[in-house]
Amino acid sequence: MSTARPRIYRPTAANLARLAGLLRRGGLVGVPAETVYGLAADALSAEACAGIFAAKGRPGTDPLIVHLASARDLDRVAVPNAAALALAEAFWPGPLTLVLPKRPIVPDNVTSGRPTVAVRVPAQPHFRRLIRLAGRPLAAPSANPFGYISPTTAAHVRDGLAGTALSAVLDGGECPVGVESTIVDLTRPERPVLLRPGGLAAEAVERVLGLPLARPRRARLSAREAAPAPGMLTRHYSPRTPLTLHRRLDAATLAALPADEAVLLLRRPAGPASKRVRWLSKNGDLAEVARGLFGALRALDTAGWKRLHVETVEGNEGLAPAIRDRLTRAAARREA
Ligand code: TXA
Ligand code: MG
Repeated sequence: MSTARPRIYRPTAANLARLAGLLRRGGLVGVPAETVYGLAADALSAEACAGIFAAKGRPGTDPLIVHLASARDLDRVAVPNAAALALAEAFWPGPLTLVLPKRPIVPDNVTSGRPTVAVRVPAQPHFRRLIRLAGRPLAAPSANPFGYISPTTAAHVRDGLAGTALSAVLDGGECPVGVESTIVDLTRPERPVLLRPGGLAAEAVERVLGLPLARPRRARLSAREAAPAPGMLTRHYSPRTPLTLHRRLDAATLAALPADEAVLLLRRPAGPASKRVRWLSKNGDLAEVARGLFGALRALDTAGWKRLHVETVEGNEGLAPAIRDRLTRAAARREA
């Protein structure tokens, strides 16, 4: 295994053609999505996709999302139904992943042996262009080592996956959404299930479907157990520094914290600035909070603090459930 860091490529026509060639030959490429950066490979090649699991240290029980250039290609990899077509029409390209019965062309390791496949059309134009140039769907999980904070810049990917088989990252700038896609299971379209809150509000999905989304209680599983419900690990997205979540961090609580502990707030606090207090938006705007969340956690995680204190969000609308989900998992205690 190489110890070299992957190289970052600007999204020029020549670079896109070159990275598409790498993907066609079974290679790995770090890709910008509108949500977070992905680690992409040819979704129709079991061998190429095995490289994704190896580079991330991801257990084979956690299936991958298949990315398409256009909703017209859905039928190639999955068996669509009316509900899926309605959601695709309303929200693709965009941060929505649909779980549907799979076609045999999708290798078993992509779906962890399941009869279903997770599919989406990403909104990031360079990523979509790369899928088109590669001429095949691309499987891509988030481009972080398994369990660590998801990457939202090309540099995060390069630094996190140095020393793996990944040699190239396509630079699309900072991800505008900042949290992963919303995942909806439509295997039984009469009972749609929200598997992961994400960058698209669940209520927007419910409006198009005309049905409420079922929300399974999260299974508590350690990374080593075979996961019956994939992606439901309690601990995920986690900084190495211990993290405590707070409903509200007021000035008195802040003042009482030890000097070697840092704080991440949703909105700018009143009072003077200090080195150990960061905030995600001026006024608590949740799109801004989501966009900056993973980057801020990474920056704090590498700054040598003893503990991070993070304010969580309330509410069940818009991006609030996705942000709270990521923070709750980041704060979960490391399991044995
Ligand atoms: O925004 C995103 O979704 C990003 C970008 C790169 O597109 N990707 C991403 O992938 O977040 P990842 O691997 O971090 O999350 C994929 C999750 C799995 O953990 C699992 O929860 C779910 O998708 N998944 C995939 N296939 C599934 C299936 N057949 N049934 C149920 N869930 C599935
Ligand atoms: Mg992930």
